[in-house]
Amino acid sequence: MSPLPTRDTRPIIIDTDPGQDDAIAILAALAAPELHVLGITAVAGNVPLELTARNALILVELAGRPDVPVFAGCDRPRRRELLTAEHVHGKTGIDGASLADATTALQPQHAVDWMIETLLAAGEREITICPVGPMTNVAAVLETAPETARHIREIVCMGGGFFNGGNTTPTAEFNVFVDPEAAQIVLHCGAPVTMLPLDVTHKALMTDAWITQVRELGSRTGAAAAGMLDFYERFDVDKYGTFGGPLHDPHVIAYLLRPDFYRGRHCNVEVETESPLTLGMTVVDWWSVTDRPANCQFITEVDSDGFYHLMMGLLSRLP
Ligand code: BDR
Ligand code: CA
Repeated sequence: MSPLPTRDTRPIIIDTDPGQDDAIAILAALAAPELHVLGITAVAGNVPLELTARNALILVELAGRPDVPVFAGCDRPRRRELLTAEHVHGKTGIDGASLADATTALQPQHAVDWMIETLLAAGEREITICPVGPMTNVAAVLETAPETARHIREIVCMGGGFFNGGNTTPTAEFNVFVDPEAAQIVLHCGAPVTMLPLDVTHKALMTDAWITQVRELGSRTGAAAAGMLDFYERFDVDKYGTFGGPLHDPHVIAYLLRPDFYRGRHCNVEVETESPLTLGMTVVDWWSVTDRPANCQFITEVDSDGFYHLMMGLLSRLP
């Protein structure tokens, strides 16, 4: 399998723990002609690794893209016990869609080894990494082979939260909370990092009308996506008392395609890795009150209508 992208597409690797919102991110990326998904790497997060890997395989097949290789990675954070979120995503991680197991198999190589090999074979600043789960796999790549950072064009991740607070503890967002040390490694790897935090995703809530429109696409993907979203949204609607829930992970894909939909600030972001009270908090020096160097493009604003319109257009391209 060749890691080389075609000239006019952007080569990306999606590192993910599907997850219904991960599912929409994967489907959107596979539908976007501007992106070349080199592979999908599964990590433990929303549900254990066995299920996230299974779900990733199901999703590439659903999108009619069984040619996209799927690799299983780390089954738990290196320095902590795994925390999962079945109470949000259901037992399978993609509850709401009744999808059979994929007929294709996982690649035999470990996701971390494949990422290292693929990055080192690529040119400088060539590949974009899109982590939309705990950053355990990506941190393992950067720790094992720090020279891979030179081959990364950008790391665009969903994670963190600052003005919004957290969704897993009062101060921490799930992906960062599950593996705070990994997120800290990513933020300090030297490659450009862009973070799409809760501050963004909670400004773009799904509506019932949008989910209905997804169902009315009339395709197998539309039916599966709408089923997943109905299931997934109920938790946040109950929790926050809002008309709809945030659709976190697809913002990473939308950002790659339409950065003009987003606004943020290049500043210093550190992750709390010790305090029991604020573990996993992304501490953002928004006002430059320290002399810590800027290491992250921290996004806080989004064109919500533009985002949902873009997502609908992408989903409508799939079978
Ligand atoms: C993140 O946590 C997971 O539950 C979602 O898939 C998303 O990646 C939001 O905090
Ligand atoms: Ca996720």
